[in-house]
Amino acid sequence: MGVEVSVEGLTKSFGVQKIWQDVTLTLPKGEVSALLGPSGTGKSVFLKSLIGLLRPEQGKIFIDGTDILQCSSRELYEIRKLFGVLFQDGALFGSMNLYDNVAFPLREHTKKSESDIRKIVMEKLELTGLLGAEDKLPGEISGGMRKRAGLARALVLDPEIILVDEPDSGLDPVRTTYISQTLIDINAEIDATILIVSHNINLARTVPDNIGMLFRRQLVMFGPREVLLTSDEPVVKQFLNGTMIGPIGMSEEKDEAQMAQEQAMVDAGHHAGGVDDVEGIVPQMKATPGTPVREAVGRRQERVRQIMHTLPHNAQVAIQESLDTTDPGQRYPAYADQQQGYDQQGYDQQGYDHQGYDHQGYDHQGYDQQSYDQQSYSGQGHDQQGYQAPTQGRGQ
Ligand SMILES: Nc1ncnc2c1ncn2[C@@H]1O[C@H](COP(=O)(O)OP(=O)(O)OP(=O)(O)O)[C@@H](O)[C@H]1O
Ligand SMILES: [Mg+2]
Repeated sequence: MGVEVSVEGLTKSFGVQKIWQDVTLTLPKGEVSALLGPSGTGKSVFLKSLIGLLRPEQGKIFIDGTDILQCSSRELYEIRKLFGVLFQDGALFGSMNLYDNVAFPLREHTKKSESDIRKIVMEKLELTGLLGAEDKLPGEISGGMRKRAGLARALVLDPEIILVDEPDSGLDPVRTTYISQTLIDINAEIDATILIVSHNINLARTVPDNIGMLFRRQLVMFGPREVLLTSDEPVVKQFLNGTMIGPIGMSEEKDEAQMAQEQAMVDAGHHAGGVDDVEGIVPQMKATPGTPVREAVGRRQERVRQIMHTLPHNAQVAIQESLDTTDPGQRYPAYADQQQGYDQQGYDQQGYDHQGYDHQGYDHQGYDQQSYDQQSYSGQGHDQQGYQAPTQGRGQ
């Protein structure tokens, strides 16, 4: 099973440029999470920090309980073997054909025979739709094929943690859906902890169990998919609908005057772009029939049930609906019975106070208030297992 990745108070700068600060989140073991955010918000920097290629100046990164910012270089070397990483640019060796590129980690990190290696490489090339292209050099294939070759290479060691940086970039919409399905199927097969960085709205809506979003040097939110997919947070809504209306601009943050001007244009009939009218939750992709049951589904159900009272109301309703309608075949058998006997009334009696959420300092009306004090929220005992509530505030 995949291992837990837990990040606490992480801050990364390059010189005077602060990329993000005080990022706290937990990737639950064996679940699929996605990290969203406009271009340049530091998503790739975050992935590289998780495997120790970049070094944040503050905070902790626990991989299966070991803080990789404190451990020895030998320990870090061992921990890196738990990872399979697809870098944003594919990072293939230009002078090696696809076969040798994909075989590389096996030759480097294992003592497997060439015939065993061949079996694994061909299996991963088939999984990523590259059979027949194994003799080609990276320069001779399309950008999308390079991306898929990078994914094949990330998978050969059967990693416990898979980080994929924009697996969809350079892929057409149909191939993107295939890649999404592949990631879900891999999760079902090997129960790895997966973190996907993507700009793709469909992928973000349908693939991950958990979603986070970086914006203005903060982790705006991180939590079960239902939290972001039902969020009223302007930046989250804008991102998930891909419209021009909202705080995200072409190159930098918009000011209020600019936002008002754009809203007036839309009110006057100008199309804001993006995917109209997609509100709320769409069903999550399931593993292809014939693959093992995704064990993460059952573990996650149990987990979200425990943190449900900490979540915003809309997310609770959506989670409740998904608990009521989950396909029994996708359930973790151990929880199936509890699940059927779940009593909606029982939940409401657990003392959930919807007002209590907003009292934690989250005021989505106050989004544009310069005076928003980030400390006021985070000082209130954020529950690391639970939902990373909004920590927005304008970047300093
Ligand atoms: N090694 C580095 N040295 C200095 N600055 C860097 C380095 N790597 C990244 N940056 C800066 O960090 C910021 C975040 O970069 P990053 O590549 O993580 O963004 P991103 O969110 O992945 O964007 P995109 O969606 O376009 O891939 C950028 O301003 C970038 O210039
Ligand atoms: Mg990037």
